[in-house]
Amino acid sequence: MFCVTLDAPDDFDGWRNAARNLALSKVPAQEVSWHVGASSGDLFGGAALPQVDPSASFAVPRPFVDLAQSAILHSDPERFALLYALLLHVRAGPGVVQDRADPLLRRVDMLAKAVRRDIHKMHAFVRFREIEAVDGAPARFVAWFEPDHHIVRANAGFFIRRFANMCWSILTPECSIHWDGNILREGPGAERGDAPAEDPVEDIWKGYYSAIFNPARLKVGAMMSEMPKKYWRNLPEASLIPDLIAGAQARESAMIAASPVPSKNIEAIPGARENWTELRAEAMTCTRCALHCTATQTVFGEGPADSRLMIVGEQPGDQEDLAGRPFVGPAGQVLNDALAKTEIDRSRTYLTNAVKHFKHELRGKRRIHQTPQTPEIEACRWWLGREIDAIRPPVILALGATAARAVLGKAVTIGKVRGAAIPLPTGQELWVTVHPSYLLRIPDAQKAEEERARFLDDLRLVRARLDGARLETV
Ligand code: URA
Repeated sequence: MFCVTLDAPDDFDGWRNAARNLALSKVPAQEVSWHVGASSGDLFGGAALPQVDPSASFAVPRPFVDLAQSAILHSDPERFALLYALLLHVRAGPGVVQDRADPLLRRVDMLAKAVRRDIHKMHAFVRFREIEAVDGAPARFVAWFEPDHHIVRANAGFFIRRFANMCWSILTPECSIHWDGNILREGPGAERGDAPAEDPVEDIWKGYYSAIFNPARLKVGAMMSEMPKKYWRNLPEASLIPDLIAGAQARESAMIAASPVPSKNIEAIPGARENWTELRAEAMTCTRCALHCTATQTVFGEGPADSRLMIVGEQPGDQEDLAGRPFVGPAGQVLNDALAKTEIDRSRTYLTNAVKHFKHELRGKRRIHQTPQTPEIEACRWWLGREIDAIRPPVILALGATAARAVLGKAVTIGKVRGAAIPLPTGQELWVTVHPSYLLRIPDAQKAEEERARFLDDLRLVRARLDGARLETV
């Protein structure tokens, strides 16, 4: 048995050097035990690590290194062993890093995802509080944070870039980091009481939060999953949340009474638009439903910000999930072909999906599409509504029942609504047609041809509408 002792729980370099030596010496994963801390090596004993020629070549695919750098920050004590087992697996067949159905890769991928989520939370929820400066020393800001994983050192660069000119400390139970404007220092773990509980700008922050709080967008479940209660203790604005939630219904009713827009529909928010770039970045770490656990990534919409047509599909498929772009697989080819035939320029169209993560089930190594259900569609309407507000296209085309439902907030029968515009309360209009993958599944050749012709007819109507002189960008 070989025993590897790493210097710290996030010691990637130590893990990499040991794993390299072990792999070059062909040591199987079950013959290695991994530990953290200077004294644990003595405690666990074990044979000395094999010595290998330092110049021996050792190549691994870049995506594996990226994955390992994230996953190693997880608090799961098994992570070093899992990563070493995966390393051996990847060296035996480098294609494994692309094989989303591989159980070991999936397990490590889950670790990396949890770490990325924790990093996102740290970026969002660290709140610095000013401490009194003594003897003319520069002001110092201190924050308390309790991460789930070993992410503090790896995250220091983010806070240095963001608060380069401030002197700050971030205290956590495991370690602390201190920036004086020039040098980053590390210190031991701390306790909550070591950081100040409030500071003078707190009231300004609370005032800002109350002002931007939109009761019509309140989704308590989603809010709790985005901002779990454990972070509330450190957020000045959190003390306002119970009252704001309690008063939200009354405020929302007042807003609806004052507005002609029915609440079921996605509203055009008066005033400033959503910022698409920020929205997309936010959606990349979406955890509003469980689909993020099994999908590779969020597939957000794409297209010019001034698009006059938005096409909404159902959800990314297998290829879209891997590429991170909508409509690049077989259904995308059918759509491209139809757009070309009806002279709708895809490069001037915004394409997106009702649901932004790929829902599927595994059959052997194949990932089989599953239709998203109400909870996923509802959870993702949050993004679609904001996307529509960012782009504000005068015409929206929904491909299939899921897309139509997501835009309208209620189910419709495609056969009944296709061929005519559905006016939206925002002044935009919605057209509905079938989903291109439906056209791919029709077994009867003649019926398939008829349905394709109808699909083209629907697209021509949209095209004519886009040509209509009276359609202005909303
Ligand atoms: N089907 C969809 O609805 N959207 C895509 O992006 C791909 C296939």
